[in-house]
Amino acid sequence: MEDITVVGSNMIDMQVFVKKMPLDGETVEAPDFSLGYGGKGSNQAVAASRLGSDVNLITVVGNDDFGKQQLKNYKKNNINTKYISIGNTISGVAPIFVKENGENSIIIVKGANNELTPKKIREYKRIIGNSKLVILQQEIPLETNNEVIKIANYFEVPVLLNPAPASDEISLNNISRVQFYAPNETELARITNLPTSNIDEIKIAAQKIVDVGVDNVIVTMGGKGALLANKNTVKIIPSQKVNVVDTTGAGDAFIGSFAHYYTQGQDIETALRNANIYASLTIMKRGTQKSYLTSNEVAALQK
Ligand code: RIB
Repeated sequence: MEDITVVGSNMIDMQVFVKKMPLDGETVEAPDFSLGYGGKGSNQAVAASRLGSDVNLITVVGNDDFGKQQLKNYKKNNINTKYISIGNTISGVAPIFVKENGENSIIIVKGANNELTPKKIREYKRIIGNSKLVILQQEIPLETNNEVIKIANYFEVPVLLNPAPASDEISLNNISRVQFYAPNETELARITNLPTSNIDEIKIAAQKIVDVGVDNVIVTMGGKGALLANKNTVKIIPSQKVNVVDTTGAGDAFIGSFAHYYTQGQDIETALRNANIYASLTIMKRGTQKSYLTSNEVAALQK
């Protein structure tokens, strides 16, 4: 049995480190640029794998040089590439603008990620059924996610759905059969139609998701940590203060590392505490996957 199966996206991240965003019709110069591997699904898979989990990734890369590079990157990161296919179109790409305060704005062009269809997923039923946990995001077709949830439910494999980026196509009914639902504050507001501008509001909105039948709601709140809500508890797991350089992919580092710690046997709260630490270490460095640490690197830093 593999530890974790991630069904999701891959992108090539094109990070521009900006001092100022251009206005309409304006050209501005940015001091730096960096190309790297990204896509929420791939990032989560790489984080879990660098920590030592056995990870399957089900994704479709483009039929171009970027696609070939992605495959090499997965191999380098010990990700099982047996279920990765090469599509008929360009690779997914993500131009990302990182401001001096470390905050980012992202545009995604999904490319071959749109070719990850429910039909393709049905070829991998056994792989999904043989996992300890399945992770989903929202950069592949919605009907594909629904098919994965159906298969995972049939095999009684828990599903962690990270609803990023937020989508107006999805209603509360789509999510009732996942065991972990992990939005940020904005995604939580979109799905519940409730305000989430302070902790009290976030607790009420998270409770609305618990009420539709989701076992655990994990709200990622950046520097404020994570909120866990389930039938027994509503709790904030605080994160530590660090020097913020680049927040790109920190949410994915949190999800991937939580999945690793949880499937290795930690209880949910301990896994969340460790995921907070892992994610906060990644924002101290530039880059998406470039900032993800291995378990040895985490242990060395904790000493
Ligand atoms: O969450 C960060 C990721 O979002 C980036 O790697 C980018 O590719 C987009 O998918």
